Amino acid sequence: MLTMTAYNGILKDIKNTYNNTKNEAPPAERMEKMDINIKNKQKALVLSSDELIPGTLYSLTLRAPDIAPLTLPGQLVHIAVGGEDSAFSLRRPFSVAYTDGDVLCVRYNVVGEGTRWLSGVRAGDVLDLLGPVGNGWDVSGTDKILLCGGGTGIYSLLGASKRLGARAKALLGFRSSPLVNSTGDFERFGSAVSVITDDGTSGRKGFVTELLENEIKNGGWDRVFICGPHNMMKNAAETAMKAGLTVYVSLEEHMGCGIGACMACVCKMVRGDGGEEYRRVCVDGPVFNASEVIW
Ligand SMILES: Cc1cc2nc3c(=O)[nH]c(=O)nc-3n(C[C@H](O)[C@H](O)[C@H](O)COP(=O)(O)OP(=O)(O)OC[C@H]3O[C@@H](n4cnc5c(N)ncnc54)[C@H](O)[C@@H]3O)c2cc1C
Ligand code: FES
Repeated sequence: MLTMTAYNGILKDIKNTYNNTKNEAPPAERMEKMDINIKNKQKALVLSSDELIPGTLYSLTLRAPDIAPLTLPGQLVHIAVGGEDSAFSLRRPFSVAYTDGDVLCVRYNVVGEGTRWLSGVRAGDVLDLLGPVGNGWDVSGTDKILLCGGGTGIYSLLGASKRLGARAKALLGFRSSPLVNSTGDFERFGSAVSVITDDGTSGRKGFVTELLENEIKNGGWDRVFICGPHNMMKNAAETAMKAGLTVYVSLEEHMGCGIGACMACVCKMVRGDGGEEYRRVCVDGPVFNASEVIW
């Protein structure tokens, strides 16, 4: 979490940078250059909105021909909520769960007013979408990859599973059996799945880091992709790094602009020379090498 002092410091740095370089390019153009990873904004047709867990979890499929074909596993879309005369000024960020040609799928929990509004959209409605945003998972090569996810973090990993198939195994943690979802999608994409729940009502009882420890002991894995709650990611990343695996995490931070300009989403990282720096989760991430993250 960024403190107000740190935030003010960052804003001062940005202002100084502009002041020092104001003859190079006007601010608008420089702001545009910040949007390095954002490809498109478009009106996307809602194909379906399915309630996976009543009142809680929804799966949205959208026809977005300018965005879906460009989207890499783990990238984000920002959805405008509230309709035409919306009182919500900020878009809401979501991982793209997977794409299929012109179609993309987003799965989300209803947690506040924006997602509640979203849960009311129906097939045939149109949503204002920005994306793809951010970097995504590196699924190239032949490495065997463990996908370690918890809560809504599993959706970021689903697209990786679609590309990796049997090269990946998904280790998925949920609080309790009624919340277990999307496991069949990982299997449909060819990845093996292990489930663990906090209360033992589905799969083993415990935390997903225990599944990870076991898989690492069994051996045969090169990399680990992790997405989920902060502490789970920290513990899982430390476990896997200690075992010598290459580890990537997809960070989740509250976002403002979502396009690299406001610095609301920054996280502290280790710089190449060993110092520290802030990086923006929205456009520099959300995926980072775990060895660079200062938790
Ligand atoms: C990189 C990224 C990827 C995401 N992917 C998904 C996804 O695939 N599926 C999904 O269900 N959600 C995802 N989220 C979270 C989603 O963006 C928020 O749940 C949503 O913006 C909430 O909007 P709201 O208007 O309903 O809630 P708000 O009224 O804005 O907030 C309601 C409550 O949720 C909390 N909240 C809002 N945003 C976040 C956040 N980013 N992290 C933690 N708590 C938050 C607020 O503090 C508040 O307590 C992602 C967020 C980020 C940053
Ligand atoms: S949300 Fe504004 S810079 Fe990331």
